[in-house]
Amino acid sequence: EMAGQCPFGGDRIGGVDGTPPALSDWYPNRLQVEQLHHNGPQANPLGDDFNYAEAFNSINLEELKQEIKGFLTSSVDWWPSDYNNYGPQMIRMAWHSAGTYRIADGRGGAGEALQRFAPINSWWDNGNTDKSRRLIWPIKQKYGASLSWADLIVLTGNCALEIMGLPTYGFAGGRHDAWEADTSTYWGPEVVKDLKTADSFDSMVSRDKRWRGQNGDADYDLENPLAASHQALIYVNPEGPYANGDPMGSARDIRVTFSRMAMNNEETVALIAGGHAFGKSHGMVPAAKIGAPPEIAPMEAMGLGWHNPKGSGNAENTMTNGIEGSWTPHPTRWDNDYLTNLFKYEWKQVKSPAGALQWTPTDPDAPKTPDAHIPGQMNALMMMTTDIAFKVDPEYRKVCEKFLGDFDAFTQAFSKAWYKLTHRDMGPRERYLGPEKVNENDLLWQDPIPVADYALVDAADVKTLKERILATGVSVSDLVYTAFSAAVTHRSSDKRGGANGGRLALAPQKDWAVNSRTVPVIAALRPLMEQFNGEQTGGKKVSLADLIVLGGCAALEKAAADAGVATEVPFTPGRRDTTQELTDIEMFTWLKPVADGFRNYLDKDFSSIAQGVAPEEMFLDKAHLLSLTSPEWVALTGGLRAMNANHDGSAHGIFTDRVGVLTNDFFTVLTSTDYDWTKADGQAMTFTLDDRKTGEKRYTATRADLVFGSNSQLRSVAEVYAGKDGHKRFVKAFVKAWDKVMMLDRYDVKI
Ligand code: HEM
Repeated sequence: EMAGQCPFGGDRIGGVDGTPPALSDWYPNRLQVEQLHHNGPQANPLGDDFNYAEAFNSINLEELKQEIKGFLTSSVDWWPSDYNNYGPQMIRMAWHSAGTYRIADGRGGAGEALQRFAPINSWWDNGNTDKSRRLIWPIKQKYGASLSWADLIVLTGNCALEIMGLPTYGFAGGRHDAWEADTSTYWGPEVVKDLKTADSFDSMVSRDKRWRGQNGDADYDLENPLAASHQALIYVNPEGPYANGDPMGSARDIRVTFSRMAMNNEETVALIAGGHAFGKSHGMVPAAKIGAPPEIAPMEAMGLGWHNPKGSGNAENTMTNGIEGSWTPHPTRWDNDYLTNLFKYEWKQVKSPAGALQWTPTDPDAPKTPDAHIPGQMNALMMMTTDIAFKVDPEYRKVCEKFLGDFDAFTQAFSKAWYKLTHRDMGPRERYLGPEKVNENDLLWQDPIPVADYALVDAADVKTLKERILATGVSVSDLVYTAFSAAVTHRSSDKRGGANGGRLALAPQKDWAVNSRTVPVIAALRPLMEQFNGEQTGGKKVSLADLIVLGGCAALEKAAADAGVATEVPFTPGRRDTTQELTDIEMFTWLKPVADGFRNYLDKDFSSIAQGVAPEEMFLDKAHLLSLTSPEWVALTGGLRAMNANHDGSAHGIFTDRVGVLTNDFFTVLTSTDYDWTKADGQAMTFTLDDRKTGEKRYTATRADLVFGSNSQLRSVAEVYAGKDGHKRFVKAFVKAWDKVMMLDRYDVKI
């Protein structure tokens, strides 16, 4: 009789966990706070105590590389290698893995092997990279947890380059795999309605939503933080904008998108010309005939997508992008033939067997290239519209001409740009593992910080320094504000920014409006540093970077004691100061916030509400980039408000009469029913709080304050900190979250 009561019994099963509609279908604009907890430890089968660095270091890298190289020059029946060499397809896999990186928010990149998961695994541009990954599964399987997918993908690309004659700049391991799809990264406004057939790519939504103006206009621009011209592409459409075959328009799109990956003209040419020295494009079957991508392929496809019904479905029948052919006569050899032939011949447009637009030499005597599978067959060379772009764009052309005349310079430029491409999102060099890591300070994109050649402060010094800092007369609010401003630039995406390096005192950060409050504080701390360092005889030093963070600790300890909850705020010395020369101003300018709710800051040009992005969404994004949980986010903000840490000293969100004391007043007022909340401007950017009984105006607030009371998930946490038993809990949570933020970039002391 129990059987009839089973919730899944009977024949009217409507749905289970996760069956649509999802919450976001019902409430598309709701703040998705739960994103903060995505890809958490629960998803990780290796467990908390697994030490990847240790495991990776136990590998003999040279042996592993030999194994990969041996495999690359083999061929298996289920997916035969072109030219008996898997190298080119593995280079493309690695490039696509890294190529999703964008400098604006640091997301994307090779760092977590997100190419394995939706949506990236199913992007049309990643066609058949599923085969490349499956081909190297036996190697991944053999090394198990000691070799992450993310590291293996990049390393295989390096091995491929090396066996074909390119001396690489090196390889560092240390990438930690993700264990589930990334659901937070914004990949653009378009929705691909029908992913069931491959040709949905062509008929897909226009690209116009992400672009402003027409290609060629002065204000032609791509939405931030995007770095691809089109949904589901790594960079640009190989057939030109709108597949229109326009090389000049294509050049413009290449420049916009590659600069969003932080690549300049020379690096861009080196990468594309270098990459297309190898392999071929595949376009033997019309896209409409190709099966569904991996994420929605039938179960029996076992995670492989894009079923090709023609013949064997691979080898000489392969269909990937749609363009067909090879760029050079020797597609498995590092040489200068790509540029030589691109410039030596005139090219005209033709269609591939799949119907894609491509270019072929007008001269019938131009060199031919061997077929990748059919012995004895020679084919015409091929160029894509994006390749022809290099001939027509004056800046790219200049670089090409330099490389044409100097193959060694080209080789150097390509191997360095490849190293940057594939290591860009790894963060400080302390994270690099293995014998091939490069230990110079000459790569500016690594945001170098010189090593410490001095002894660190001890506990007694720390005590002295804290006393001296508090004796300067700088307010606890200013000290907290400054320490937080130093640390808050960190982003867990590409691991850039943070307090280490002392860059708050350098351009561009020292000049940002949001940091103006820190300038006098640094001016007060610097003499303390000089005094202390001058007093030392044993080669001991304190860095400005450490002193800035220590100032925050000293201030918070005082503020907690004043609130009756004496607490020690952890401090780990060892931050080093870097120099202006080792700071790439342009690349650090990308870290400048448009909005920072922690400091109640909105850029004066902020107009995103009109564009559909609210300040609280940007605040959530920042909390996510700081890898905070929702309780940490709530506690940190409440504490910063108690400390009076608004960028402009405004009273917004300072719901207390005991400013600079670490109370939980922010939460008690926020959750109280004694107040009436009213919009103070037409856009609902600011609010006032009136006493319901007396009508007296008590406080003012921004969206970055009220979101903690209006959003249901954040409110649930705020209520905990507002409880009668909440104050101690709040102080503890705040101090822990504070220390976490201060330590985010300390890869020198954490694994
Ligand atoms: C292949 C486009 C940049 C390396 C291809 C294919 C296309 C393409 C359409 C053919 C895929 C197929 O059908 O199999 C582009 C565009 C680029 C770009 C539009 C930027 C404007 C790069 C870069 C690299 C690279 C930066 C590496 C540094 C390769 C390699 C192949 C390839 C090695 C051959 C793959 C094989 O033989 O299977 N590219 N690419 N590409 N690309 Fe690119």
